[in-house]
Amino acid sequence: MYNDNPTLESLAKTIDESKQGSVYDRGHPESAEEGDRRRFYIESYGCQMNFSDSEIVASILHEVGYVPTREMEAADLILINTCSIREKAEETVRKRLQVFDRVKQQRPGTLVGVLGCMAERLKGKLLEEEKLVDLVVGPDAYRDLPKLVHTAQDGEEAINVFLSREETYADISPLRLDSNGVTAFISIMRGCDNMCSFCVVPFTRGRERSRNAFSIAAEAADLYQRGYREVTLLGQNVDSYKWEHPDTGELVSFAKLLEMVAQVHPDLRVRFSTSHPKDITDEVLYTMAAYENICKYIHLPVQSGNSRILERMNRTYDREWYMDKVRRIYEIMPDCAISSDIIAGFCSETEEEHRDTLRMVEWANYSMSYMFYYSERPGTLAARKYEDDVPLEVKKRRLQEIIRLQNQVSYRHNQKDIGKTFKVLIEGDSKRSDQAFRGRNSQNKMIVFPKAGGLKPGMYVQVRVTDATSATLMGQLTT
Ligand code: 5AD
Ligand code: SF4
Repeated sequence: MYNDNPTLESLAKTIDESKQGSVYDRGHPESAEEGDRRRFYIESYGCQMNFSDSEIVASILHEVGYVPTREMEAADLILINTCSIREKAEETVRKRLQVFDRVKQQRPGTLVGVLGCMAERLKGKLLEEEKLVDLVVGPDAYRDLPKLVHTAQDGEEAINVFLSREETYADISPLRLDSNGVTAFISIMRGCDNMCSFCVVPFTRGRERSRNAFSIAAEAADLYQRGYREVTLLGQNVDSYKWEHPDTGELVSFAKLLEMVAQVHPDLRVRFSTSHPKDITDEVLYTMAAYENICKYIHLPVQSGNSRILERMNRTYDREWYMDKVRRIYEIMPDCAISSDIIAGFCSETEEEHRDTLRMVEWANYSMSYMFYYSERPGTLAARKYEDDVPLEVKKRRLQEIIRLQNQVSYRHNQKDIGKTFKVLIEGDSKRSDQAFRGRNSQNKMIVFPKAGGLKPGMYVQVRVTDATSATLMGQLTT
């Protein structure tokens, strides 16, 4: 999930109060003590990792007495966790900063902080250029936030954008902000050592490091105890996860980690994201096949279907290598769904090379894809080495062609599920009706079905698919 433009609605999803109680401030203080509380408001943009980081930030602030609020007008501290992946993502953040500034004018003393990738990329420039910002905090500096808030309150420059080689926030228990009480993210590693030429991430999130495997399994076990039934293990490149036990020297690979988490409980589903085609191993695929509760779904970004473009992108695999991986996945797990990320119009891409990408979408039979047109990012290898020479209209047209084709492929993929029965984990009410539930099957497809008595979020049910669009399956309970 990449979110360049979330609505406020999606930022404030309902919390299942019966399960964990709202972590948010009620807004109507019932005691003097509640009235005195300091409040923070946080918005997150970008990848799942960013949303997960915001929960770490929330936990750090909570420790020093702050409570989260959904109303920015009520906040003493307004934070925005930012994304730099495309220019559009940064533009969205700049617009939000203008909105926060209006709140600040009405409530002098309110502090505004920029967190995450944009903070890291622009550093002090954010304080200088945008007089709208009081704090700038990079992705590895969140422990410093309480101190930086004091610095900003004293009217001094509050900035920490140091990148770390060790920080994994392993000991911090995230405050689950917009939880449905059923599914949660667990961050297993940080940073990225791949040097994809289009990508700003290695510059904003620093070197790759893996989190203590036991702290990951313990977090999963704790979530299970609290009623959660699905965890998604997160990292920029989960397949290069590697952790060495400091005492025994034992090495934990990603396959081993998956197994450790799968063994927490058979009723705890395990997902992961994102995989890099060059790193996903047979061992991972066999581990997935061996455990029913490891979901049969792999997000395997191809980026381009053409070998020359892949080389320019520095992806370190070519079209054939990628196709071999896809074949291997379907061979070991015939029921596995694969999704992708695709960039249209990378530097010097020809029409024929673009058609290779279209052919790949058909061939790989992706259940869905996240699709973008290339946006040059300052400082990246591509910005330094290649000319961004595909005209914007051409990029947009190619992107539209990819989207149109992917929609058809997704539709076909979903139509094939009609008549099949899937095990579905109920996540909550359908978006359209409170008479229907929604949940996902192992392949990560959303299924909507009419409610029945005694069922609630967090339960597994068997659902027979009766209809399908390109985005959703519709079905009926069979149990
Ligand atoms: N322009 C467009 N898309 C990009 N992505 C990463 N960098 C860029 C860029 N400069 C896409 C890739 C990546 C996803 C997270 O965002 O497809 O997998
Ligand atoms: Fe955006 Fe990438 Fe940073 Fe995630 S890691 S917030 S996608 S720039």
